[in-house]
Parts: sequence; structure tokens; C-alpha cells
Amino acid sequence: MRTTVGIIGAGPAGLLLARLLHNAGIDSVVLESRDRAYVERRQRAGILEQGTVDVLREAGAGERMDREGLRHDGIELRFDRRRHRVDFPALTGGRSVMVYAQTEVCKDLIALRIEEGGPLLFETEALAVEGADTDRPRVRFRREGVEDVLECDYVVGCDGFWGVARSAVPDGRTFERTYPFSWLGILADVAPSHDELVYARHDRGFALLSMRSPSVSRLYLQVPADTDADDWSDERIWDELERRFETDDDWTLRRGPVTQKSVTPMRSYVHEPMRHGRLFLAGDAAHIVPPTGAKGLNLAVGDVVTFARALAHRTATGSDDLLDAYSTTCLRRVWQAERFSYDMTTLLHTAPDATPFEDRLQLARLDRIASSRAAETDLAEAYTGFPIG
Ligand code: FAD
Ligand code: DHB
Repeated sequence: MRTTVGIIGAGPAGLLLARLLHNAGIDSVVLESRDRAYVERRQRAGILEQGTVDVLREAGAGERMDREGLRHDGIELRFDRRRHRVDFPALTGGRSVMVYAQTEVCKDLIALRIEEGGPLLFETEALAVEGADTDRPRVRFRREGVEDVLECDYVVGCDGFWGVARSAVPDGRTFERTYPFSWLGILADVAPSHDELVYARHDRGFALLSMRSPSVSRLYLQVPADTDADDWSDERIWDELERRFETDDDWTLRRGPVTQKSVTPMRSYVHEPMRHGRLFLAGDAAHIVPPTGAKGLNLAVGDVVTFARALAHRTATGSDDLLDAYSTTCLRRVWQAERFSYDMTTLLHTAPDATPFEDRLQLARLDRIASSRAAETDLAEAYTGFPIG
């Protein structure tokens, strides 16, 4: 098999890249190890930055998002029983975010890919990338038990943190931090208890109220790193959420049937560079952020937009300039997101070894955001997203 761009992985990065290349008249083949149902159901991110929303619209993949997604103009910070709303448009010159789940983004992009007739091979596992430093890189893969080779002009590894592409970048450097806590996340069939997201800092740990639709809530609790989701009954989860969201006013948490429960570890990770020869890494294959601040999916979108633009530029002008700048261009934005996600994580979570002094500092940082327009603007700009490219 032969193509211009071999894409490994049909998560948001790989699927969007295939669409952007199709729109630019560049052919590609997408290889995905899991089946379609698995990819469409995997519960992950829920918040799209303004720039991601714009990209999906421009790519012709925003129709259902515009119909069913929920535009959010702010978030609430909750600490010390207080509530503080951060107003995004007022602080950023009109920017906002969209609540539209990663599962739905993937479903929309898969449907478009099938409609446009581009190869998207599920249950096809990439085994290795070979010849990345030649003009004809290859992806060795296995499909229905048979090994085969995809010959390409370029390979983009969109295969997530556990993929194979990264190992074909020699002499890379990694920067990593793990956190001594995880998130226990639930989906519940109940209308969200607030019309915007609530990020709560509490002495018992962080809690987040989010949503998937006007009738489905998504909630998270900070739990110790080695937590087994089965140790948390539904009642225990709701009781704990209630305590962490407590306020001085009459706000109440609505409870409902829990339909999904899982634990997500927290990690910061960057692999540099994000390119070796004709192999490019995009999304979680190159970097991970802790979920606080909802940057993971949005970073993946930034990477593939940068790659698609660079390749279209090369096709139009013959110049490799933008491809050569790919890693540097992406890493600048990646590190801003790493910084923001780290700041949000340390601002809102209770470290097991935190001293009373550090607890007070956390509250002082939150109070600063709530009382200084400059500090609040910094958060609003980062949350609604850094420019791509
Ligand atoms: P992925 O979505 O990981 O896609 C990679 C794809 O490659 C997968 O479909 C995988 O099956 C496939 N693949 C892997 N190896 C191979 C192979 N060898 N051959 C072929 N295919 C392969 N972000 C947020 O902003 N908010 C959240 O709440 C949030 N929750 C998360 C929960 C979990 C459990 C995880 C893991 C991540 C979460 N994230 C969250 C991060 C966000 O979902 C990711 O940043 C986003 O999915 C990145 O997209 P991607 O396409 O780069 O990678
Ligand atoms: C969601 C996840 C996040 O990490 C976040 O900061 C906000 C919302 C979510 O899954 O809805």
C-alpha cells in the first residue's frame, strides 16, 4: 500500500489531520488499532477552545457541534466556601469555549472520512515506523493477522502516549512529572447542577463539575494515585462531591444514576523534538498534560493544524521551511499549555504532603485571581486558548 501521508492513530489528532489533508487535496491512510465502536465511545475530554471550534468549522466538521455543543462564556472557581465567576468574553475580547465531547468530535470526523471515501483502517495495528530519515518512510502494520507495509512520503504519529511512533525518534529528550493523585470521573444521567463548569479547591481535595449535555453531568474527584474505581460506591462519590462543592449560599448538587466510572492518572510529559526526518509526532504521542484546564485535545488539534499547513505550503511552494519549523512551532504552544495545566493542577489539588503554609498560598493565589483583573485575564486567556502557529 502507498500514500502521501501515513497517519497512525484515529483519535482526534489523526482523524482531524486526515480531514485537513483531504481538504488540501493531499491523500492519506489512517491506521487504527482499535475498532470503530471503541474509538467512538472512549470517554475523555469535553472542552473545546475557541481556536479548536474555529478549526473544526473551517474544516467542515462543525455542523453538529454548532447545533448540539454548548457555548460557555465562563467558569466558576470555588474555594473557602466562596464562588467566583471568570467571565471569558469580557476578559479576552470576546473569546469563549465550547462543551462538546471528544467522543462526538471523533464520531463526526469518522463519518466525514467515510463519506469522503478516504482509507480509515480500524483494527489495524502499526508495529513500527522505518526509514524515517529517508525520502520513503514506511509503517509496518498488522491487519487480520497479516503483516503488511504502508509506504509514505511522510508519517505522522498520532498514536497517543502508548503508541509506537515516538520510539522511532532517536536521541529524543523527555521532560516528565507525575502527580501523587488521580481523577475519579463519573458520567451521570442528571441535569448539570450549574450552567457553567465549577472548579473547586477544598481541603479534602479538588472537584470539578462539568457536563456533556443539558441532561448529562460529568464530574471528577481528586483521589489518591492508586485508587480502584470499584472502591467508590455511587453514594460515596456523591457524598464526597457534595462536601467539596460546599458554599455559603444555598447551592445544591443534583444526584442521578451513574452510568460510567473511571480513574485517570495525572502526568505532565513532553518529548523533544517532535520530528525526526519525515516522521512527525502529534498530540498525546508527543506530550501529555494533567487534565486540569482541559488542554490535551486542544493541543493535539494545534499540532495537526501546524503540520497540515506546513505540508500544504510545501506542496504549493516546494519549500520545506514550515515543515522544518514544525517541532519548534508546536513546542512553544505545548510548553504554554504545560505551564497552564501545571499551574491549574497545583492551584486546585491538595498534595498529600502539603504544609499548612502551602495551603494558605493556594488560597492566596485563588484570592488574587478573584480580586485582580490582570490575574484573572491571564487565566481567561490561557483557558480559552493560545493561538495556533
Ligand atoms: P488519542 O486520543 O490517545 O488517540 C490515539 C489513537 O491511536 C487511539 O485511537 C489509539 O487506539 C491509537 N493507537 C495507539 N497505538 C496504535 C498503534 N500501534 N497502531 C494504530 N493505532 C494506535 N483531556 C482533556 O482535555 N480533558 C479530559 O477530561 C481528559 N480526560 C482524559 C482521560 C484519559 C483516560 C486519557 C488517556 C486522556 C484524557 N484527556 C483529557 C486527554 C485527551 O483526551 C487527549 O489529549 C486526546 O485524546 C489526544 O488525542 P490524540 O489523538 O493525540 O491521542
Ligand atoms: C472536562 C475535563 C477537564 O479536564 C476540564 O478541565 C474540564 C472539563 C470534561 O471532561 O468535561
